[in-house]
Amino acid sequence: MQVFETKATVREAVRNWRNAGETVALVPTMGYLHAGHMTLVERAKSEGQRVVTSIFVNPTQFGPTEDLSTYPRDPDRDLAMLREAGVDGVFMPSVEEVYAPGAQTIVETTELSKMLIGKLRPGHFRGVATVVTKLFNIVQPDVACFGEKDYQQLCVIRQMVRDLDVPVRIVGVPTVREADGLAMSSRNIRLTAEDRAAAVVLSQSLFQAEEMAKTGITASRLRAWVAANIQANPRADLQSADIRDAETLASVSGPLTRPAVILLAVRFGKVLLIDQRVVTP
Ligand code: PAF
Repeated sequence: MQVFETKATVREAVRNWRNAGETVALVPTMGYLHAGHMTLVERAKSEGQRVVTSIFVNPTQFGPTEDLSTYPRDPDRDLAMLREAGVDGVFMPSVEEVYAPGAQTIVETTELSKMLIGKLRPGHFRGVATVVTKLFNIVQPDVACFGEKDYQQLCVIRQMVRDLDVPVRIVGVPTVREADGLAMSSRNIRLTAEDRAAAVVLSQSLFQAEEMAKTGITASRLRAWVAANIQANPRADLQSADIRDAETLASVSGPLTRPAVILLAVRFGKVLLIDQRVVTP
């Protein structure tokens, strides 16, 4: 497995693979890898002949009140996991390598970035869209894999690729869950034992809502039930519970007639957890 710290070296390796007729799949990450990331890597191996993973904690997607310095990091462990998984290359640049001094160009999906989590984290999706565009330009993969857990992020990236004609195929990979249903996330480690136990209310609410969606219930009643079920847990501080069209994230009302996605953002102490489930009427 090759480790690249510069744009020039990863570009050259990818160019060589592509010149040899091989396809390249990219898995962008911010490191501190867990089983969810490794599922993305496994999927990438079936989508491309070569797999590159990027590890870059992107400062531009953190807000001024969000602590970038406490984001968990363990590069040695990450590299060992990726080597074991048979990844071909890891792009691990410094902030200075990615963002040249005086950079002023941004990429933003103007509507998608302001709704839902974008309201809670202003500027977050602008940072994501900008860095993912840069990673696509630097690595130039044929295909890139992202988790469905970050559903709005996946919608933002699909929209950006469509709007800017970026020649990369986006693959969404289903959420990987702990045995009790909690969606895997690097943030879970920051939960206290009590909050970790309480956090199962997210997936329980989503799974139950999935069954309720089949009964002809309206979107507003289903949303109200999910919100009340989460709020009944004293440790859960509900930030948002939304039901949106699964493809466009447009608001939905009345009885569900098309696949919809339930999107949750819930704080446990200082940790903001998100989860989602596509429900089909
Ligand atoms: O999902 C993440 O880990 C990040 O938002 C991403 C896509 C790697 C961009 O920094």
